[in-house]
Amino acid sequence: MTTLDIPELALVALVGVSGSGKSTFARRHFAPSQVLSSDAFRAMVADDENDQSASADAFEALHHVAATRLRRGRLTVVDATNLQPHARAALVRVAREHDVLPVAVVLDVPEALAWERTEGRADRTFGRQVLARMQRDLRRSYKQLAREGFRKVHVLRGVEEIDAAEIRYEKLF
Ligand code: CTP
Ligand code: MG
Repeated sequence: MTTLDIPELALVALVGVSGSGKSTFARRHFAPSQVLSSDAFRAMVADDENDQSASADAFEALHHVAATRLRRGRLTVVDATNLQPHARAALVRVAREHDVLPVAVVLDVPEALAWERTEGRADRTFGRQVLARMQRDLRRSYKQLAREGFRKVHVLRGVEEIDAAEIRYEKLF
């Protein structure tokens, strides 16, 4: 079993390619109200969780809600790929502005498995090349994450490790 130590008040950024199991992980370990998903925010602002043209507006709304939750002292999980440095920088900034610790949880599964899962979903229509690019972004992310300001970077590699992970909350005081 892999134990993920997470401060009881944290901003948790899930990091992983499409099909790595971020939303499944979020559902399993957190209450629905703790999870802010980019899909849900795209749907909220554009009635379509796949409308990429809505991403900027969706993330603006997501960051706003994340900031409100942190100001109120509520643990918040961001369910988005978070594969780009600028996407993660925005989360680190929101966390810091509220004196909350940013934590990254990386889900890393074999690309073939992520593709198999993604291909089987009616609500995911992008091609193999898009997933390959995400995988490259993930590889690059490893080096960057530690120096971006995440207080902890937890990496779960492979389905077994992801399935066996448990979260342990650390008291802040
Ligand atoms: N899945 C699975 N077994 C797991 C985890 C996920 O079979 N242990 C399946 C899910 O049921 C889903 C697909 O794989 O159909 C993708 O999982 P999901 O958690 O939705 O992946 P995300 O990383 O959230 O993908 P996206 O970035 O596209 O939202
Ligand atoms: Mg998802």
